[in-house]
Amino acid sequence: MSIERMHMISLTSQFPCDIKESIRWVPLLSFLLRQSSLSKMAGKVISSGFRYAALPESYVRPVTDRPNLSLVSNCDDVPVIDFGSADRPLMVRQIGDACRRYGFFQVINHGVPDEIVERMQRVGREFFELPVEEKMKLYSEDPTKTMRLSTSFNVQKEQVHNWRDYLRLHCYPLDQYTPEWPSNPSSFKEDVANYCRAVRDLGMRILEGISESLGLEKEVIIKILGDQGQHMAINHYPVCPEPELTYGLPGHTDPNALTILLQDTLVSGLQVLKDGQWLAVRPHPNAFVINIGDQLEAVSNGEYKSVWHRAVVNSDKPRMSIASFLCPCNDTIISAPQELIEGGTKAVFKKFTYAEYYKKFWSRNLDQKEHCLEFFKN
Ligand code: OGA
Ligand code: NI
Repeated sequence: MSIERMHMISLTSQFPCDIKESIRWVPLLSFLLRQSSLSKMAGKVISSGFRYAALPESYVRPVTDRPNLSLVSNCDDVPVIDFGSADRPLMVRQIGDACRRYGFFQVINHGVPDEIVERMQRVGREFFELPVEEKMKLYSEDPTKTMRLSTSFNVQKEQVHNWRDYLRLHCYPLDQYTPEWPSNPSSFKEDVANYCRAVRDLGMRILEGISESLGLEKEVIIKILGDQGQHMAINHYPVCPEPELTYGLPGHTDPNALTILLQDTLVSGLQVLKDGQWLAVRPHPNAFVINIGDQLEAVSNGEYKSVWHRAVVNSDKPRMSIASFLCPCNDTIISAPQELIEGGTKAVFKKFTYAEYYKKFWSRNLDQKEHCLEFFKN
């Protein structure tokens, strides 16, 4: 007799009459229920260890909205700015040039110690290698949560999904947020907190340089942005079976003030839009990619553009990127300083608070055609 039949006989003979016996099955049944709800949950993220043979339908972009990877060329002249330079006027000029021509640049000799960067990368990788059940304890699709693992971009709003999982953390003030961060891997809190401190310090130095490059005193922009928040997204882009049909992240601009991106040192995937062309930004060793976000576009009265960028995926290697976002204080009023709207120059944007902007941003889909800043124009 087969094992299955024996089980069936024993089940039918014991259920439902013998209460004592049936209680014995409760742990097994609850285990099976838990397994089935876990596997349903695990289906939501793509970093489950499962290798897809084909791209699931819900990730396939319409033909008119695909990355056309063969048309993308390498951007070999991405401005690389030496932040260790003693020639500050030169550095400020380079920042201004890069912001006007590209909306982004890379920084080297940035003062963030290599060891802090390496530990951050290691612990980010270890996190995504955890068993899917462990990661799913942190899963949420609610953008108002201050710590969550999620997938794609805004699963509740979007029509087509993106080939990305991400762990999103609020990071400032650290004392307030580290208690809710993952404690697995065991060094996560410490490694990430050290990285956050160093990157925040770099971000402030960059904002000073940007302020000067607009002809303002160096502290003007930092003052407008108020006591800035800091968020982080550890992006994980698993190997994708059909990278031509989808995105890791579709073209977008960042809604915050300044983004400091640590690219995967070996696997590229970041592309930026310049003069209507998508260009691939090859990872530069020991550099951060800095991009202007929507709030700096507003504060500079539109002089610096929040750069359009996207992440593409590949069928060869998983890719990780770590984005740190500096965000204006929620109730600070975003507007260009008086110096930039003198002498007949009109204010391009209405005054708004960052809280208003952020709410509008997350109420929408990432790849909606009309840009979020358009709603705040004069
Ligand atoms: C982002 C982003 C790009 C990348 O997280 O906003 O644009 O290369 N990431 O992962
Ligand atoms: Ni971005």
